[in-house]
Amino acid sequence: MSTLADSPFLQAARGEQGERTPVWFMRQAGRSLPEYLAVREGVGMLESCMDPELVVEITLQPVRRYGVDAAIFFSDIVLPLKAVGVDLDIKPGVGPVIADPVRTLADVEAIPDLTADHVPFITEAVRGLVGELGSTPLIGFAGAPFTVASYLVEGGPSKDHARTKAMMFGAPDVWDALMRKIAGIAAEYLRVQVEAGASAVQLFDSWAGALTPRDYAASVQPHSARVLAAAGELGVPRIHFGVGTGNLLGLMGEAGADVVGVDWRTPLDAAIGQVGGRAVQGNLDPTLVFAPTEVMLERAGEVLEAGRAAPGHIFNLGHGVIPATDPDQLKRLTEFVQSWRPTSEPSSSSPEPSPPSSPGPSASA
Ligand code: CP3
Repeated sequence: MSTLADSPFLQAARGEQGERTPVWFMRQAGRSLPEYLAVREGVGMLESCMDPELVVEITLQPVRRYGVDAAIFFSDIVLPLKAVGVDLDIKPGVGPVIADPVRTLADVEAIPDLTADHVPFITEAVRGLVGELGSTPLIGFAGAPFTVASYLVEGGPSKDHARTKAMMFGAPDVWDALMRKIAGIAAEYLRVQVEAGASAVQLFDSWAGALTPRDYAASVQPHSARVLAAAGELGVPRIHFGVGTGNLLGLMGEAGADVVGVDWRTPLDAAIGQVGGRAVQGNLDPTLVFAPTEVMLERAGEVLEAGRAAPGHIFNLGHGVIPATDPDQLKRLTEFVQSWRPTSEPSSSSPEPSPPSSPGPSASA
């Protein structure tokens, strides 16, 4: 039995080649699990997130069922906003909805900064969890400034993030104040989780893929960097993830990540070439769990093989578990990843990043 510090997940997150590749799944807790649906019966999403006993139970469910190598704290990226008093709800099938969208400097200034006193239920839930989890690490998380800003400015989910980007392009002072406000809240929210016992953190910038590299670098990266720097002072590994970020991976690494999360659209070997020698997480297409098991496992094997070129690789899906996913498929996938071992020398074991056009994932030997 490994201890927490030398668990496969933390080894890979620190960029160490451990004995095997660890695995967990984004949104591993949630609607794909019948036991989740059972305990959520008649309880609202935000209400569940503020009930420590329920948070502990829901976070542990996928760990019990799959034996994954890490737990992710059950919460939501808008929870800290709710905690400081922003009027919002999480609507089933829709996502976060904000009653009074943020449009002006006065709107930004009306949002209080977060302190630990706003989230005693988070501290309680994390403490309860680390007691139960033993040598399995708990990942704390926060939403990154751009993704959270999108919900606040649009008032809800958006395809093109047009109002958000209009603020970024047209009202840089308001944008800067909003991004600083959210970065401060995210940093404090992560601090609460780590001080209560979380072993790693993930910053979710799910919608960063809506940005060009130029705008990401100028208007978003500095704010995410502030959150990651604050988390770095806590001494835990930091994972930085976004969707559709094939052309942003280098910048997302430079923002201060120890591990860059890769979505399923980017081949993992190409991603590894972009992230400047950092560890990577990902990136099986989440729809592959709907394919025949042998097809899913063959593709998973390709992801594992490609991951060997990175200093550390954490296996994951390339975005969250889709609610219709069959948990038995995720169980098979977990067992496959945990029993997989490299069969030959890696195709690129040098610390130099491989070029984006490097050949396929199979070993050349
Ligand atoms: O990974 C996990 O198991 C931890 C739980 C988790 C949730 N939300 C629970 C949740 C995490 C890490 C999040 C983060 C989150 N929330 C993100 C970033 C990750 C990503 O998916 O890109 C985003 C963009 C949100 C905002 C949000 N909250 C969306 C888009 C939705 C889904 C809306 C829907 O119903 O389709 C939510 C609600 C939500 N968050 C659910 C869960 C389990 C579903 C609500 C329910 O069960 O009733």
